[in-house]
Amino acid sequence: MVRYIEELQLAGKRVFIRVDFNVPLDDAQQVTDDTRIREALPTIRAVLKAGGKPLLASHLGRPKGVDPKLSLMPIAKRLSELLGKEHEVLMADDCIGEGVGKQAKDLKPGQVLLLENLRFHKQEEANDEAFARQLASNADVFCNDAFGTAHRAHASTAGMVPFMKEKCAGMLIRKELEQLGKVIKGAEKPFVVVLGGSKVSDKIKVIENLLPKCQTMLIGGAMAYTFLKAMDLEVGKSRVEADKLALATKLLETSKRLGVEIVLPVDHVCGTSPDDKSQAIDVNERAIPKDLMGLDIGGKTRAMYTQYIRDARTVLWNGPMGLFEVPKFAEGTRVVAIAMANNTSAQTVVGGGDSAAAVNDFGLSAKMTHVSTGGGASLEFLEGKELPGLKALE
Ligand code: 3PG
Repeated sequence: MVRYIEELQLAGKRVFIRVDFNVPLDDAQQVTDDTRIREALPTIRAVLKAGGKPLLASHLGRPKGVDPKLSLMPIAKRLSELLGKEHEVLMADDCIGEGVGKQAKDLKPGQVLLLENLRFHKQEEANDEAFARQLASNADVFCNDAFGTAHRAHASTAGMVPFMKEKCAGMLIRKELEQLGKVIKGAEKPFVVVLGGSKVSDKIKVIENLLPKCQTMLIGGAMAYTFLKAMDLEVGKSRVEADKLALATKLLETSKRLGVEIVLPVDHVCGTSPDDKSQAIDVNERAIPKDLMGLDIGGKTRAMYTQYIRDARTVLWNGPMGLFEVPKFAEGTRVVAIAMANNTSAQTVVGGGDSAAAVNDFGLSAKMTHVSTGGGASLEFLEGKELPGLKALE
């Protein structure tokens, strides 16, 4: 059983909140997508309201030692804007040590302390016990709200938990577990899974876990070409994982046995190479000419996928339908996002990473039931794996 933040008495207590503030920054060190910061606000506000002293801890990027470009300072600035004038955000110059301990103790009601990048210490990823104890020594309560990092067994997500008197999950983790959990265990039918991205190998376990649960799987992205090739179709210069052809055949056979439809593109938008962005060529049939490569799903496929999504009661989407960073090859991804946004009677869940970024770009996030803040974490959750950050809370 996992306890949630609102079940604990927090008045006067120092609450270590593990958040996932691993957000993109531009060259001017400005946060370009603050979704993860905004999604952490309910838990931070709940702790403040209950009279607790929040110490926020996160990693940013994958630094090797201290790297000023990966300081959490720009995040402190954005957090302060989001929390508003009544809450002061203080920035610590480290995440452990006496100085941090003193800052935490001296926090005044309404103030928040943001610790410096956890990964400036290599002991964080090594899940070093001494480091975990140091992190734990500056707080009374541990609260994990970093869903995006729950698949990592690091000092701040798992290692420090046994050294804390009280532990709980935050409100973002609760929301993620409710929404993704409902998809995995109790999705209303018809349940349509939309999978894209470049590699079948990245999605094998998700496919295997979801095939027995869904009625239809719509496949797009480069992974579709491995399936088409496995069906002996010409795919031209499209990206194919040669060592996964047998597996693709096996997955197609399994789907038949289970009575689940795996739907593959019937037409394509092609280019001559992923680097040549000058031309998008419509190929109106399943087979792709030898000198072309598929870079997006075609018009007939878009219409067909839209129909499946329109008739569904649950839609789960993970992975773009094409090379969506290039506008000429973004239409398939955009159409899937629009179809999901338009189906207001279904539970529509976008499983993190590139698809979440695409939905954000299209301005459609608010129209989905849920857009996960986890990339790797949501994928592993959908694979049915136990996430160390969640296990530690039990
Ligand atoms: C993410 O962005 O997926 C999480 O913050 C985890 O980051 P990591 O892959 O560097 O551990």
